[in-house]
Amino acid sequence: MSKRKKADSRDIGLDLGITFSKYFFKTDHLHYGYWTNGLEVDISNLARAQENYANFLMSQIPEKVSAILDVGCGTGKLASRLAAKGYSVDCVSPSKLLTRHARELLGGKSHIYESKYEEVVTEKKYDMILFSESFQYVDMEKAFRQNRAFLNDNGYMLISDFFKTDAKGESPLGGGHFLAEFYKTIEKHPFRLLKDIDITKETAPNLKLVDDFLTQVGVPTWTACLDYLDIKFPLLSKVIKWKFRKKIDKINRKYFSGSRNADNFAVYKSYRFLLYQKTN
Ligand SMILES: C[S@@+](CC[C@H](N)C(=O)[O-])C[C@H]1O[C@@H](n2cnc3c(N)ncnc32)[C@H](O)[C@@H]1O
Repeated sequence: MSKRKKADSRDIGLDLGITFSKYFFKTDHLHYGYWTNGLEVDISNLARAQENYANFLMSQIPEKVSAILDVGCGTGKLASRLAAKGYSVDCVSPSKLLTRHARELLGGKSHIYESKYEEVVTEKKYDMILFSESFQYVDMEKAFRQNRAFLNDNGYMLISDFFKTDAKGESPLGGGHFLAEFYKTIEKHPFRLLKDIDITKETAPNLKLVDDFLTQVGVPTWTACLDYLDIKFPLLSKVIKWKFRKKIDKINRKYFSGSRNADNFAVYKSYRFLLYQKTN
């Protein structure tokens, strides 16, 4: 698959995700929840867990920060929370549909760069560049160079996202740069590590929700569709199942085998909160 097609399908996934989440789960955050002790891991608590995540992130912002660039702002929810706290916030949003959400929510309070971060051109400087679950989508080298250019002296780079671990075997879960590669790459750039907090334990429970959804809604829906095809159009069903057998097997393996769960997330991913300061 070409890079362009991959990027487009990711965008469509995020767009669908937010439409779905807003309607069913009453949340317009697009990031994981931060599940702390006592909060039952249930879909009815997702919005609360996501608010916990936003609060955790905001509590870690260094004191001197005033102007923030929110890279990959999603629906603009986090940016609007930051603006409400008195920060001046600009956003980067390459997805048309998400940009529309963000514009509605921010109501002209922020400038939105409507492109990939790697392609942003500006003379403006910021005190902090924020990647909340958007770092996995950017080219690391290019992003670090952009950060250096757009940050004021001693400015900060805050990354909160999951990375791939070096665990053996094929991961049933996609996404993320390799953590080891991240550490190697950042060493070549003028940034000093201030904080590196492993929040995998607090974020992994989100995968329980995904697993519950796939096994309780996805599997029956998928089976019903295949059964319907079998009953209504037996011949066509046989042809489709034969022609797309590899694709169907892949879908079954990837989504309906129960492997997209919290345990596997904790093995194959490491969710990090990383705070760096520019050194020159
Ligand atoms: C999982 S969402 C996170 C949204 C938001 N930051 C949050 O915490 O809810 C990922 C975001 O990254 C954006 N994104 C994807 N590729 C990007 C790129 N190359 N440059 C900037 N943003 C990108 C998507 O459009 C989306 O807004």
